[in-house]
Amino acid sequence: MNRQSRKMGKVVVITGAAGFIGSQLADALLEAGHSVIGIDNFSRGTQENLALAHTFPAFELHAVDLADEDEVNMKLMPRLEGRRIDEVWHLAANSDIPAGVRDLRVDLRDTFSTTVQTLMMMRRLQIGRIAFASTSAVYGENEEVLRENTGPLLPISNYGAMKLASEGIIAAATEAYLEQALIFRFPNVIGPRLTHGIIYDLFRKLETNAQSLEVLGDGTQQKPYLHSSDLIGAMLFIREHAMEKISLYNIGPEDSGATVAEIAQTVVGASGTGAAIRYTGGNRGWVGDVPRFQYSVRKLAELGWRCPTTSAETVRRTVADMVREA
Ligand SMILES: NC(=O)c1ccc[n+]([C@@H]2O[C@H](COP(=O)([O-])OP(=O)(O)OC[C@H]3O[C@@H](n4cnc5c(N)ncnc54)[C@H](O)[C@@H]3O)[C@@H](O)[C@H]2O)c1
Repeated sequence: MNRQSRKMGKVVVITGAAGFIGSQLADALLEAGHSVIGIDNFSRGTQENLALAHTFPAFELHAVDLADEDEVNMKLMPRLEGRRIDEVWHLAANSDIPAGVRDLRVDLRDTFSTTVQTLMMMRRLQIGRIAFASTSAVYGENEEVLRENTGPLLPISNYGAMKLASEGIIAAATEAYLEQALIFRFPNVIGPRLTHGIIYDLFRKLETNAQSLEVLGDGTQQKPYLHSSDLIGAMLFIREHAMEKISLYNIGPEDSGATVAEIAQTVVGASGTGAAIRYTGGNRGWVGDVPRFQYSVRKLAELGWRCPTTSAETVRRTVADMVREA
């Protein structure tokens, strides 16, 4: 990317930039010629995830706890005030859903307060556009094919509840001072640099016990899986093409998903351990886990983007990559 084209690029803030998805989004935006200002408190994100981003002069990083108003005001605002910033991609959040079920304050802080602080920062800096990483968890447990206008929205985890609350205050901010909000509802996202989730957990468990693999639930839980590279392709596509003031999209593959049993078998097969799979039983992994859901991605298809990869292919590819990189 030459100097001239970088000048025409956008200046983008990414919260949660050191995380699994945030770091890959940073790489994609930098490679496309934009400048990226990353913010992360490194509670889950790592510097290792940012190795490629750090090779770009157009990347800068601020280690800040975005849930802490004093820290934002003292450590972050003085470095951002007076600068041109075009948009904010807000990805910072708690990603340990069971931890949030055990302690209500976890998602209040890291999933909701981070959104409040992000909006306050945007208002002060007069940044008009937000892209927000929301989740299928806002739908709660619902047998219907989930569409963007499905309701009532009754989440079953504090994580889902605080994401829904975040959608709400972003909508209100759009009425008051934002120009546009893009709200993306992701299903399960997997790919390189995983920091959490079933595939990550199963590999960690095999490292400590290669003979027997404990799997939460009875294996019948079934959800769509989206590769992080497909997710980023979809988000950037929506950003270019969606025109509504609040553009709300489910993003996902068009199939009905992969089961936990299929994932566990793929992990054991690829690991070469031959571990015996032992299910803990019950139809869900933990309190707050939505055991099965199906997404409608028709709105996104009508906009012009269809996922090129199925859930099963995404699972196989992610597992194979993890084995190769181990
Ligand atoms: N991975 C998925 O399957 C999935 C599904 C639905 C929605 N999402 C959403 O996508 C976003 C990215 O998720 P991810 O999978 O990359 O998770 P992740 O945990 O890897 O990334 C989140 C990042 O936010 C940072 N963070 C957390 N609290 C913070 C705080 N108070 N201040 C500053 N930084 C903070 C963490 O250190 C981490 O780097 C999150 O908002 C998540 O809720 C992810």
